[in-house]
Amino acid sequence: MNAEAKKSSNSFTIMNELVLPNDTNVFGNLMGGRLMYWMDIAAGIAAGKHCNAPSMTASVDNISFKTPIKLGNVVHIEAKVCRAFTTSMEIHLKVWGEDLLHQYKYESNEAYFTFVALDPNGKPREVPPLIPETEDEIRLYEGALRRRQIRLILAGKMKPDDALELKALFNL
Ligand SMILES: CC(C)(COP(=O)(O)OP(=O)(O)OC[C@H]1O[C@@H](n2cnc3c(N)ncnc32)[C@H](O)[C@@H]1OP(=O)(O)O)[C@@H](O)C(=O)NCCC(=O)NCCS
Repeated sequence: MNAEAKKSSNSFTIMNELVLPNDTNVFGNLMGGRLMYWMDIAAGIAAGKHCNAPSMTASVDNISFKTPIKLGNVVHIEAKVCRAFTTSMEIHLKVWGEDLLHQYKYESNEAYFTFVALDPNGKPREVPPLIPETEDEIRLYEGALRRRQIRLILAGKMKPDDALELKALFNL
């Protein structure tokens, strides 16, 4: 395992898909499940670029779909690792729909996925630290600790009392 720190931009991934009839629901819009499948792949590629090891989806934070993506439109997904912890990585995803005929792009949703790197025995292994550079990357990096504590509490893997970052936020 290469433990040398990597930049957030090293993991930047763009994925495009065309919404075909088999991807849609009865309203002619992209099915949420199909979109989550593509998002999972984009997040997995970003995680792989960061840790250069096999990794697995550990959790997906809430996804709310703002605007449906229409049949024949292009799905544009951008994914980037925003923070690396010990064996896990938080990946930020943004999704747009793109109408190539009428030449406009619209926001669909945004989400955070957590991936865990695994060794050949399927056990969590260390990942390289991450260096955020831009203002946006620093904002995502700083918020990642709080989001991590929320998701670990919800998963029953952390006691609320141990969530120091969250407690500090509420002056507890
Ligand atoms: C994810 C998984 C590898 C974690 O293994 P584990 O034995 O719970 O390991 P640990 O408790 O030591 O946790 C390892 C890391 O995972 C993180 N993690 C565990 N559960 C998590 C969750 N629900 N959400 C976010 N991170 C989680 C821990 O915080 C830890 O991160 P860190 O090392 O950076 O601090 C294991 O739960 C698993 O294999 N889950 C199934 C994953 C899967 O099948 N995904 C595909 C979807 S079907």
